[in-house]
Amino acid sequence: MGKIVIASDHAGFYLKEKVKEFLQKENHKVIDVGCFSAESVDYPEYGAKAIEKILNKEAEYGILICGTGIGMSIVANRFPGIRAALCHEPFSAKMSRLHNNANVLVLGGRIIGEGIALEIVKTFFETPFEGGRHERRINLIEDITKK
Ligand code: RB5
Repeated sequence: MGKIVIASDHAGFYLKEKVKEFLQKENHKVIDVGCFSAESVDYPEYGAKAIEKILNKEAEYGILICGTGIGMSIVANRFPGIRAALCHEPFSAKMSRLHNNANVLVLGGRIIGEGIALEIVKTFFETPFEGGRHERRINLIEDITKK
């Protein structure tokens, strides 16, 4: 698997560190684009930094974490070719890969704990895209939003 870029704001910083540690233990290559402390920052800046790495092909997947995950999701899904899934439990993470071919996983650092977050991450990266009719639907998203 290609590299994973990870980013958070201050509200996701603690969980980002835990997720990064977990991914590295699982032998994934991780690019951390910040933030690098719990000092208050603006999530759109860090979300966009991560997405840039995917768009220029330095990374294949992304993980974004803010307080609720909502701000990071809004930012990520503004970019063509990005399918960001905000997941609070493993079932959504599984379906986001199977049906949506999500390339960005978004977590809410103020919503879920470390244990469930790591289960979500594990599920996300273990689950392949199903393709078939779902491929057509994903292509439709791009076609429709180009107009
Ligand atoms: C920061 O206070 C918070 O607004 C941010 O982390 C995120 O939850 C925004 O959607």
